Amino acid sequence: MFKRILLAVDGSEHALLAADVACDLAARYEARLIILSVAKPVGKMSVAARDYIQAEHLAGAPSYLLTDLARAALADVDGRARAKGLTNVKTVVREGNPARRIVEYAKEHDIDLIALGSRGLGDLEGLLLGSVSHKVATLAHCTVITAK
Ligand SMILES: Nc1ncnc2c1ncn2[C@@H]1O[C@H](COP(=O)(O)OP(=O)(O)O)[C@@H](O)[C@H]1O
Ligand SMILES: [Mg+2]
Repeated sequence: MFKRILLAVDGSEHALLAADVACDLAARYEARLIILSVAKPVGKMSVAARDYIQAEHLAGAPSYLLTDLARAALADVDGRARAKGLTNVKTVVREGNPARRIVEYAKEHDIDLIALGSRGLGDLEGLLLGSVSHKVATLAHCTVITAK
């Protein structure tokens, strides 16, 4: 059913829920798991993302891109996937608009399932669904799971 699963992570708790689902499905379907984090321009960074950078001691405030944040989120989730026994795992960093990059990556790499959290590191607590989850669900050509 699923051969290549794309898990999108941003360092949020919600993305970890998606990681559980993605890892479970990757194991069941013996699928390749690609974990992607998109580094946004710093100007578009939320307060929560800034707090996360501080909490994780990602020193030397990256000048214009959140690549350090993305790499830290990837290392964390990659470790969790491997601790669950998965070996067919790869991590990828892209830069730019998260939703667009996620959808683009999925298309270019023949992904058949995208997993992401329903919310991320955004500041708008009142939202039911974050904008990245919403856009990816709308624009993706394949099945999308938003974990809660
Ligand atoms: N920069 C990013 N790179 C990769 N995945 C992301 C990124 N931003 C968000 N996501 C994914 O989308 C999910 C929902 O986040 P988002 O739509 O940004 O909600 P919010 O508005 O609450 O931040 C996250 O749990 C994560 O799986
Ligand atoms: Mg967000």
